[in-house]
Amino acid sequence: MSGVWGENINLSIFGESHGKGIGVIIGGLSAGVELDIDLINKEMSRRAPGKNQFSTSRKECDKFEIISGYFNNRTTGSPLCVVINNTSQRSKDYEAMKDIIRPGHADYTGKIKYLGFNDYRGGGHFSGRLTAPLVFAGAIARQLLEKRSIIIGSHILHIGKIHDDFFDYVKINDDMFRKLKLRDFPVIDIEKGEEMREQILAVKEEKDSLGGIVETAVLNLPPGVGAPFFDSVESKIAHLLFSIPAVKGVEFGAGFSLASMKGSEANDPFIIQNDEVKTETNNNGGILGGITNGMPLIFRTAFKPTPSIGRLQKTVDVAKKTNIDLEIEGRHDPCIVPRAVPVVEAAAMLALLDLLMEKEGKAWMI
Ligand SMILES: Cc1cc2nc3c(=O)[nH]c(=O)nc-3n(C[C@H](O)[C@H](O)[C@H](O)COP(=O)(O)O)c2cc1C
Repeated sequence: MSGVWGENINLSIFGESHGKGIGVIIGGLSAGVELDIDLINKEMSRRAPGKNQFSTSRKECDKFEIISGYFNNRTTGSPLCVVINNTSQRSKDYEAMKDIIRPGHADYTGKIKYLGFNDYRGGGHFSGRLTAPLVFAGAIARQLLEKRSIIIGSHILHIGKIHDDFFDYVKINDDMFRKLKLRDFPVIDIEKGEEMREQILAVKEEKDSLGGIVETAVLNLPPGVGAPFFDSVESKIAHLLFSIPAVKGVEFGAGFSLASMKGSEANDPFIIQNDEVKTETNNNGGILGGITNGMPLIFRTAFKPTPSIGRLQKTVDVAKKTNIDLEIEGRHDPCIVPRAVPVVEAAAMLALLDLLMEKEGKAWMI
């Protein structure tokens, strides 16, 4: 298992890409929560592979089975264990690859860390497939947060060098989220989305891959959630975001561009609006001192290009200790970003649930 994450709610994911199955054990759920199975299925299907040319052709419907912690349609309060069987393994693609380490993937570090005993097929436990259980757990967090009107939405801000519009950090609203949710390729500017799709297909044709950025907003978070230092809202969310394979950058609010602003440009002036304290701008992305300030929470997550590409690359055979040229076969996402959108949202909702439970504990859930 990949360790245990979380304090008030905790989870551990297990499984390998080409093993029997994958899953998650979720601890800390209150007894008596009726799970919204429709919502879970919708989230799982947003992430599932094999649906279009922008994702791997590996077809997995990601049907899940809850094997413990759920009785008479309600959580029992004991650990909730969910298994998702693998149904479309094609492990022969990997037989010849046992000692050949893919540049950009975790084959080398996995082999070193686990002394060569790791299941290397399809990336094993390092595979992006392991984000399915994360999405399952995130859907439960989403259901619980939505009950308190806390909602999340994301769009693809970048693919390669093509740019969508930014969210309006102050005026972003649920209407925009609804529109984005209806789009199978969630972008604000549809034309830019078309360009992004074309670029992914062109690069796929060249047996190469692309990365990109997902921009996310969370609305209606009450002010006062989080803590300074170690349990800051940024640390909690970033911890889970960086657990997603291929994530190499996270920024909040105006993020890295704050570094080139003056204080007078970066500070968000306070104003009273409908009797509430708000800020006129939102460069701090809804967080001050690690604590929410009641403005929309804004963050961006950068994904590197998919490491497994068919183009000729240099690498090594670690058993023979020789340099070799490699052309990777098998089924891979030409760009991870479209499938990663629900994964980013799941990670953020779980981190926020953990923080929100700080005050009221399990009672928060019912
Ligand atoms: C949803 C998703 C799908 C992914 N699909 C692939 C894939 O098809 N091929 C691949 O080589 N990597 C894929 N990855 C990325 C690798 O799992 C990741 O790059 C690898 O484990 C190394 O980890 P690192 O990039 O975080 O260092 C995917 C990641 C995610 C989140």
